[in-house]
Amino acid sequence: MTTRPLDHASSVCLGIETSCDETAASVVRGRATVLSSIVSSQMVHAEYGGVVPELAARAHMQAIVPVIEAALSASGVSWSELSLVAVTSTPGLMGALLVGLPFAKALCYSLGIPFVGVNHIEGHIFALRLEHPELEPPFLAAVLSGGHTELLVVEDWCRYHMLGSTIDDACGEAFDKVAKLLGLPYPGGAEVEKLSREGRESIEFPVPDAGGFDFSFSGLKTAVLYHRRDHPDTPRADVAASFQRAAVRAVTGRIEQAVRKTGYRKVGVSGGVAANGYLRERLTELAQRHEFRLLVPRPAYCTDNAAMIAAAGAERFARFGPSSLDLPAAARTPLA
Ligand code: KG4
Ligand code: ZN
Repeated sequence: MTTRPLDHASSVCLGIETSCDETAASVVRGRATVLSSIVSSQMVHAEYGGVVPELAARAHMQAIVPVIEAALSASGVSWSELSLVAVTSTPGLMGALLVGLPFAKALCYSLGIPFVGVNHIEGHIFALRLEHPELEPPFLAAVLSGGHTELLVVEDWCRYHMLGSTIDDACGEAFDKVAKLLGLPYPGGAEVEKLSREGRESIEFPVPDAGGFDFSFSGLKTAVLYHRRDHPDTPRADVAASFQRAAVRAVTGRIEQAVRKTGYRKVGVSGGVAANGYLRERLTELAQRHEFRLLVPRPAYCTDNAAMIAAAGAERFARFGPSSLDLPAAARTPLA
């Protein structure tokens, strides 16, 4: 395979994301100029109350060609102008990863351009760069998604030091499970937020503490379950608002602790849960109190998208060159 020399500043990277239930493609120029970002969310899972892996894989197969074509067309870039393809290779649902990854490899092979596999969590970190192109490490980062809850130091781009992660449920997973307990549709995070606006934070749910910089959300979810059982007449909106306060406190508490301990003055928060307006308000207050710079992407870059994968892939390629065409998909791979 021939590889074209890639000047980072003017590279044009196609990003592809199929790790869970969003089929996404995006064209990004240079480090972080998003020319297009198309996200097709799979509706097929709603009736099951959670992602069904086999259905996700099939839906990705149906959507991948139209989504990539739409991203190319919206960007105004032609196939021959692409210099690189970046794709999520880990972590995620195996059947879902096995749609985007081989597709990206075949595309690169046929176009004669390099391919880079990207860790999805690293993608969420690069969402911060999409929103703040001038951002430079080191900084603290929290990735709060449906599958992951990580608190880490970004020492340099592509170099991370993990501080803590969840020992049980992910933060977004807790929102989804509580949504289900409250009879709200899947995915539940945004639904819980919406219902919370009508409720009072009247219940003192325990703020989970897993020790150190780790997180734990399963006890909180169980507390909500028991509360529903023992107090069925409490308005659902009050339960939602009280849960949301406890979950957000768990996050802001850990971030506060990390800021104090490490002294970093920049903190990035990304992943689907970072789209939550209540969390964003509490983080803004925390940033004012501790005088650090808070970086949060716009909601469309918090939830799964391929622009973040393209941005991460472009940086990885500039630093480490292409991935091998025999790079396997992996359901789990720690970032650091
Ligand atoms: O990052 P993401 O799109 O996908 C994963 O990598 O998992 O995150 C999805 C998660 C889901 O659990 C969803 O319920 C949650 O993010 N989420 C929210 C909100 N929007 C999405 N959680 C709380 N409030 C929201 N507004
Ligand atoms: Zn994600």
